[in-house]
Order: sequence, then structure tokens, then C-alpha cells
Amino acid sequence: MSVVVTGATGHLGRLVVQDLLAAGYPAQQILAAGRDQGRLASLADLGVRTAAIDLDQPPTLVAAFEGAQTVLLVSGSEIGRRVAQHGHAIEAARTAGVRRVVYTSAPHADTSPLILAPDHKATEELLATSGLVTAVLRNGWYTENYLPALEQARATGEIVSSVGSGRVASASRADFAAAASVVLRTDGHDGAVYELSGDVAWDQADLAAAVAEVVGRPVVHRDVTPAEHLAILLEAGLDEGTAGFVVALDGNTRDGLLAETSGDLSRLIGRPTTPLVEGLRAAVGASV
Ligand SMILES: NC(=O)c1ccc[n+]([C@@H]2O[C@H](COP(=O)([O-])OP(=O)(O)OC[C@H]3O[C@@H](n4cnc5c(N)ncnc54)[C@H](OP(=O)(O)O)[C@@H]3O)[C@@H](O)[C@H]2O)c1
Repeated sequence: MSVVVTGATGHLGRLVVQDLLAAGYPAQQILAAGRDQGRLASLADLGVRTAAIDLDQPPTLVAAFEGAQTVLLVSGSEIGRRVAQHGHAIEAARTAGVRRVVYTSAPHADTSPLILAPDHKATEELLATSGLVTAVLRNGWYTENYLPALEQARATGEIVSSVGSGRVASASRADFAAAASVVLRTDGHDGAVYELSGDVAWDQADLAAAVAEVVGRPVVHRDVTPAEHLAILLEAGLDEGTAGFVVALDGNTRDGLLAETSGDLSRLIGRPTTPLVEGLRAAVGASV
């Protein structure tokens, strides 16, 4: 039963391919798809089949999906273009006769005011009307997203945010990839919508303590207002759009939109999610 993993040249997709292989899924039944030729070559070294795809070029998608039973559509990274791109992938899956599309979405994408939710909500709606069998993995926040904050704290001893007392139930990309792998290679997920998140919702003091443990120096969290945060980010050289995005995301976090601990993720993978400090340590190790 052949599966295609889009975004396999990215962090999450590659981990999914590796997890499928580790679970004994036949390498020749896995097609790893992405754009970057160098990373496609390194995926081919794992023994899986590979295909160059461009989410903006439907014929590349149809060609890659031909003969596949399931496609894991890893959400694209080009914000503003993603809904059209995902639409191309869903249409290509129909054209190619794929049975099931599994999609990586965002927490409560259908109802959440999370700044990232609208693209995912629109994609889930396209899936719902596609006539395909679907499964939706509403992935929560990656622990790896805090690597820049960790590096800043290594240099300054501070984590600066406007998150206040908002909590984050993050998990490692490897945890989310393991869940995708389970859904790809086992039965019983048709029509499922999983709210995937870490087992523990931590706050910024917890993050500072975990970062301190990893970098080996005292770290404090400095809580600032959204306006102060925006000024700090602009002063540091971020453009207005990016700085505004970061502040809005901190506002979402302050409002608890990334805090849910549904237990879906640990239930799917059959083990606890990776604790914050371990996830950060692994992320630092992977980045050197
Ligand atoms: N939950 C979270 O905390 C979180 C954080 C960041 C992102 N995300 C979402 O989760 C996805 C996976 O995360 P990640 O860490 O693996 O991201 P990533 O490393 O940036 O990987 C993104 C993947 O999307 C592929 N891609 C982007 N545009 C494409 C296009 N036009 N045609 C074909 N492939 C395209 C890239 O292919 P190439 O590299 O070959 O160009 C790459 O394989 C992201 O794309 C984003 O939607 C979630």
C-alpha cells in the first residue's frame, strides 16, 4: 500500500519517512516528495522512492501521486499561497485515484482565532468536499520553534516575550512525525480529526528553566507588553510584517490557543510526548 509524503525534504516530512522505515514499512512503498534536489537525493539514500514536486505545478503532483493509496499532505511553508497549493494537491490526489489524504493542520483550525488557522481551515474545507477519505492531524506547536529563543538566551541570559502567563503544550517534531506514521500505516483513522499536542502545558518560567538547563547558564523570562515587544523586534531589525506576526502569535499564546493537552498525541504514538527540556536538547544537537 503505497504512500506519498509531500514536504519530505522538510524537517517533519523527513522524520515521517524515517519513522515509517523504522516501523518496518517497505521502503519501495514510500515515495518521498519535495523540491530540493539535494535533500531528495539524501532521501533516496534511505532506499525510498523520490519525486520532485512543486505544489504550484499540478502535473508534477499528479505524476507523483499515481498509484498511491494514501498521500500525506504536509502543509506548505509559503504563507499566502498555501490554500491554492493545497487545493492543487487535493485535486491531483483525486485525478490520480488516491484513496486517502492525510493533512497536517493546526489546533482547532475550524474555529480557532489563531493567526495561522485560516489557511488550515480553508484546506480542511477543501478536503471535506473532495470526496476523498481524509484524516486530519491538527498539529500543535513544535518545541523546535524555541531554538532561536534558546540561542538568544545563551547569549543574553534572557527570554523576551509578550506571552505573559500563557501556556504552550509543545511537542517535538519527532512526536508529530510518529503520529503521522501511525495514521499512515495503520487502519481505523478514516475521517478522524486529531488534536495533537504535548502532554504538558508549560509557561515561560518553565521554558526559561529548561533553556537554562540546556545552555548551562541562568536564564530569566522578561515579560513585556505587546507594544514594547514590537518595538524590541523592530529595533532588532525585523521587518514590520514579521515583527507584527511574532507579536500576534505571542498574543495567541497568551490567550491559551496553544495550551490544550488533549492526550491525542501520546495516545496515538503509545508513549508520552518528549519533555520540553529533552526536546530542546535534541533540537540543539540537530542544529550543530
Ligand atoms: N506546528 C508548528 O509549530 C509548525 C511550525 C512551522 C511550520 N509548520 C507547518 O508544518 C509544515 C512542516 O513543518 P517543517 O518544520 O517540516 O517545515 P519545513 O522544514 O520548512 O518544510 C517545508 C516543506 O514544504 C515543502 N514545500 C514548500 N513549498 C513547496 C512547494 N511550492 N512545492 C513543493 N514543496 C514545497 C518544502 O520543500 P523544499 O524544502 O524541497 O522546497 C519542505 O519540504 C510547514 O510547512 C508548515 O506548514 C508548523
